[in-house]
Amino acid sequence: MSSAIETRSESDSSGGKVPLIELRDVGKSYGAIIALKGINLRVHAGEVTCVLGDNGAGKSTLIKIMAGLHQQTEGDLLIDGAQTHLESPKHALGKGIATVYQDLAVVGLMPVWRNFFLGQELRKGPFRMLDIQSMRATTKEELYKMGIDLPDVDAPIGSLSGGQRQCVAISRAIYFGARVLILDEPTAALGVKQSGTVLRYISAARDQGFGVVFITHNPHHAHMVGDHFVLLNRGRQKLDCTYDEITLEELTQQMAGGDELDTLSHELRR
Ligand SMILES: Nc1ncnc2c1ncn2[C@@H]1O[C@H](COP(=O)(O)OP(=O)(O)O)[C@@H](O)[C@H]1O
Ligand SMILES: [Mg+2]
Repeated sequence: MSSAIETRSESDSSGGKVPLIELRDVGKSYGAIIALKGINLRVHAGEVTCVLGDNGAGKSTLIKIMAGLHQQTEGDLLIDGAQTHLESPKHALGKGIATVYQDLAVVGLMPVWRNFFLGQELRKGPFRMLDIQSMRATTKEELYKMGIDLPDVDAPIGSLSGGQRQCVAISRAIYFGARVLILDEPTAALGVKQSGTVLRYISAARDQGFGVVFITHNPHHAHMVGDHFVLLNRGRQKLDCTYDEITLEELTQQMAGGDELDTLSHELRR
């Protein structure tokens, strides 16, 4: 983790910080369907970049490009300033880009620690036996570091709240070397209190120097933790501004469709 953070203070020739990820004029078509066009985005260490947009806006497509699951059909993707072709999610992970999807791929009946190490189990001794004790202790410690005190890491993961499960997935990504966390609507299915847990966790990750991409359609959640906002509308970038440049009211208005909503409201009032 520390080596990843050290690389963050590097500067480019212009004197600004080099973004962890940069998209330049990125587009993606699925056959005749244009899912994204002309996207310019920078993800910086120690910042939360919020990607907002309605259903079908292109948020998932954008994530999939950064996660190495799909490739853009136009434009460039740069990692640490270098043009990169991500060939697979594994390749992206190797570059420190981890994605937590909304429908978490967790195995409900497995203990929390087992899920934490799923596919990357710790082993020991000549027979490469599972090192259960270490896995248990590490899971507890890593969660505790991020402010989650689970009394029992042997509890089935399915018994945790939705918010806690998101947090387990995030700390797992951090433990396995992520520098960029892409979170696909982590608060969409959660109530107010649970959302609070996840939002606190997002701001803790930011404060520790991670670059966070937070996908949401909730402008309130975005405004609480975001440093930078990008709004997608039918595959186009409609807004690109920093926290200082927009109020919650403006963000909500933009998100709701702005002028379109005003027109509709006038129509309905008649
Ligand atoms: N695999 C695919 N094949 C064809 N069209 C797709 C595919 N994935 C997404 N699309 C289309 O791209 C557009 C953006 O979708 P998506 O990125 O899922 O939006 P969001 O996540 O914001 O709801 C939609 O019109 C959707 O139908
Ligand atoms: Mg989506």
